[in-house]
Amino acid sequence: MSASGSAIIAADALPPGEPYVAGQLAASPQQPDTKRVVVGGVGGGGMATEHQLLSTAVHETMPGKYVRPVSQRPRLTEVVSDACIPVVDLASPDRAAVVSAIGDACRTHGFFQVKNHGIDSTLLTAVMAVARDFFRLPAEEKAKLYSDDPARKIRLSTSFNVRKETVHNWRDYLRLHCYPLDQFVPDWPSNPASFKEIMSKYCVEVRELGFRLYAAISESLGLEEGYIKKTMGEQEQHMAVNFYPQCPEPELTYGLPAHTDPNALTILLMDDQVAGLQVLNGGKWIAVNPQPGALVINIGDQLQALSNGKYRSVWHRAVVNSDRERMSVASFLCPCNSVELGPAAKLVTEESPAVYRNYTYDEYYNKFWSRNLDQEHCLELFRT
Ligand code: OGA
Ligand code: NI
Repeated sequence: MSASGSAIIAADALPPGEPYVAGQLAASPQQPDTKRVVVGGVGGGGMATEHQLLSTAVHETMPGKYVRPVSQRPRLTEVVSDACIPVVDLASPDRAAVVSAIGDACRTHGFFQVKNHGIDSTLLTAVMAVARDFFRLPAEEKAKLYSDDPARKIRLSTSFNVRKETVHNWRDYLRLHCYPLDQFVPDWPSNPASFKEIMSKYCVEVRELGFRLYAAISESLGLEEGYIKKTMGEQEQHMAVNFYPQCPEPELTYGLPAHTDPNALTILLMDDQVAGLQVLNGGKWIAVNPQPGALVINIGDQLQALSNGKYRSVWHRAVVNSDRERMSVASFLCPCNSVELGPAAKLVTEESPAVYRNYTYDEYYNKFWSRNLDQEHCLELFRT
């Protein structure tokens, strides 16, 4: 559907990746709101003190700064709730069938769920539990990690990019760099006490799963098994632990507005009780219903480019609801900043010339951050 979803993309809807900028870790002086009720009021935005964590209060009304203009609202009644994105059983003994199912999913949906992926369900449960416990910490504890500076490699923040956006999103998130682990883990939250251990274990397994998926995706494109892993270089790995509180006005706002992921591959661990992820397919938003134990995989912009446009980095969004809070843990595999990206040579032929030019991830990100009011798919700027 490429740009067909752009009509509903908010001007401030930037994909949830951050540029690689060396930054110092420091505690933010900002104090989140600890009052029980946040009263509405249209915020002008900009003042750091206005940007407070949602997860430190119960919200009986929604402040005006979260309200989208009518034309940008999620129109939840029009969402297709009974369609499914493809599900792939990674334990199937028929490797060729797995590869071909993954290839089909990447072409038709850009999204699929995997089951029997090899990550133990007790670990997945522990990850969700420790993530939830983190967001339940007292406000003072969370305030120590708060920052709205996207350059920080470890930070707790809210919405998406509160310094730039004009309308905010109903989300708090903890953003962590995860590779190499020994470089970042010492600065990760040490409360809850088991956070570092559980999340590190998960990061190692998710990376390994990502590389197995790269092999299958490479093969499905007719490339050597090791092609994607090799081409992306020494990859960064980032994690976003997303917390979407109960929202009094879910029809008026988003948890995350429509975006594509700017990285290569995303592995999403979803709340198995509460739905909220939606994917644009054939011009319609379809709900991704959680399957216990499964993980959701999506193609990011870099694999769309590598596949020469055969595989799609599709628009997706997270909506909120008034009944229950929702959580998700997104793991992003990101190419090395300095390697050359673009269509794989083998996929460029006379019949299918290169759709995108070559570039570095550094360049991609610079472009990406220079066009915050642009509503196009960022890859459109790299077309030949
Ligand atoms: C993301 C994302 C969806 C979700 O973090 O990039 O798309 O359901 N999250 O939280
Ligand atoms: Ni995303």
